[in-house]
Amino acid sequence: MKAITVNPPDAGVTIKHVNYRKNGVKIKILENGICGTDREIVNGELNSAALPYKYNYLILGHEAIGTIMEDRVIFKKGDIVMPVNRRGCGRCLNCLNGRPDFCETGNFIEAGIKGMQGFMSEYIYDDENYLIKVPEDIKDMAILAQPLSDLEKSLDEIINIQKRMIWTCSDNTFHCRKALVIGTGTIGILFSLLLRTYGFDVTIANKRYASENELKIFNLADIRYYNSMNGYSFGENTFDLIIEASGSDANVISETIGFIKNNGILGLFGFIKRGDLTVSRYVLQNIVYKSIVIAGLINGQKPHFEMAINHLIQWKHLFPGIEKLLITDSIKIDDENKIINALTKKAGGEIKIKILWH
Ligand code: BGC
Ligand code: ZN
Ligand code: ZN
Repeated sequence: MKAITVNPPDAGVTIKHVNYRKNGVKIKILENGICGTDREIVNGELNSAALPYKYNYLILGHEAIGTIMEDRVIFKKGDIVMPVNRRGCGRCLNCLNGRPDFCETGNFIEAGIKGMQGFMSEYIYDDENYLIKVPEDIKDMAILAQPLSDLEKSLDEIINIQKRMIWTCSDNTFHCRKALVIGTGTIGILFSLLLRTYGFDVTIANKRYASENELKIFNLADIRYYNSMNGYSFGENTFDLIIEASGSDANVISETIGFIKNNGILGLFGFIKRGDLTVSRYVLQNIVYKSIVIAGLINGQKPHFEMAINHLIQWKHLFPGIEKLLITDSIKIDDENKIINALTKKAGGEIKIKILWH
């Protein structure tokens, strides 16, 4: 079957025929999403990328929807499903209880990233327990459920951490809480939409003017845009929550940490690519004095995929037309040059690009 393959730690990507199959239900892939992690692997920049045991290639891809090809126990032929991308180490308590996002050994595997064949192939085979049902009427934007699952997990984690005190407002919602999201990539935008869904007041920032497409999204969801081209002019103690989703320079943390209010939280999502962080003792003392938490946020699991699907259904109604604004391009699998290009370099104005298999 046709598959998009890579050879970590080497850079490069190939579309070729492979003879890969494993036990489990057969799923015909309908669409894949392209993510920054795919590009890091293709460009040989992701240290954690690893070939599956005994293979000399890695099928790329961790965002997919597909059609079930045969009746099984949970799913029937024709059902549309999305596979969960990280699988447990089989040893630690968190993995044994469905939470490989908190794997204790670090020996988890990830489809298309680390030690497990990915989903950019004509067919995949999988255990039904790792599949999430996709309702037909959100099929056009369902591919977003995988990146969104990472954020569902992240927000769930943030809310759990903040249960250390009273973080809900006097009406028991999050409406009085202010969030700053740094970065307007897929993650920054989806995180902002999710925070709005929970009622947070949201400002999203990037070091440039927002595009017309982005402004449409921000208007739909009442998200404030902040151009940080000339730095940030927020006062000390402005935000209850800051999400770093730019993956750019470590500097961004020293530039913004002072804006966090007492008892606030800084969530780091994705990987900072440049620079180092020097934290002065003044800042360290403030972290203590203000009871600030800094949390690393990564990977959603099955419950978070389910939450993501539910939120996508909700967004279709809350933010009419959002699917067309979020899916910025779709490339047919036969257009190999365009696919290889898209897997190598992020396009201008891109939010989510899909690969269409059928
Ligand atoms: C995926 C996550 C994964 C992470 C680290 C991201 O692109 O969406 O689910 O855990 O990469 O490999
Ligand atoms: Zn990803
Ligand atoms: Zn584990």
